[in-house]
Amino acid sequence: MARQGPLLAALVGLLCLSVAQARKAGPTALKFPSLTSCSQNADATTFRISTNVTKSMPGQTYCFTFGTAAPANATLPCGKATVLERVQLWASHEDRRKISMIRIREPSGDKVIYGSWTRKAAGYADEIVFSKLQWTPEYIKTVNPRLCLTLAADTTLDDICLGTAGLCTFGLYSVGANGAKCCPVYDVPAKVAA
Ligand SMILES: *[C@@H]1O[C@H](CO)[C@@H](O)[C@H](O)[C@H]1NC(C)=O
Ligand SMILES: *[C@@H]1O[C@H](CO)[C@@H](O)[C@H](O)[C@H]1NC(C)=O
Repeated sequence: MARQGPLLAALVGLLCLSVAQARKAGPTALKFPSLTSCSQNADATTFRISTNVTKSMPGQTYCFTFGTAAPANATLPCGKATVLERVQLWASHEDRRKISMIRIREPSGDKVIYGSWTRKAAGYADEIVFSKLQWTPEYIKTVNPRLCLTLAADTTLDDICLGTAGLCTFGLYSVGANGAKCCPVYDVPAKVAA
């Protein structure tokens, strides 16, 4: 136990330092994530994604880190979500072959996963969804799982991410109390953190 304290504190500190700002949905916001009746309220849940993108092996592999923080309002249904079910990335279906491998990277090893694409029309955005994650806050804090995308040669994150240039936009989907659907949206710089 004595050994774990400082390590956990350091990890939590690191995750807290660099969590992405939630994006406020405005009247001109595109329909991402492509879900109806899903609350996009900023920081609605306890789940966060870090702005700290890392590049690692094999080449062209970019990893996203997650974190936790107090929800904006813990008494609201989304504030009571206990499991991060899915991560959605606003990306172009047309460019799907530019993502050659998707992995969940844990200290114990890598697990290859497959995203499912939705290709939308009429104002809805294309997206790739990484589902069945079932990550609890405890799991995120202790295991520090990363979502790693291996891109084709000569492809950058900015090439595959849609939305504002220079950013990758994620939805973090979970279900809150009373079956409330929650999908706050976060922007992450589409480049490796300095
Ligand atoms: C980003 O992550 C790397 C690898 O874990 C770490 O060395 C670095 O300090 C982090 N940077 C920030 C700004 O959190
Ligand atoms: C949290 O939500 C409840 C229920 O809508 C509301 O009464 C309360 O004022 C909110 N608290 C904050 C800090 O926004």
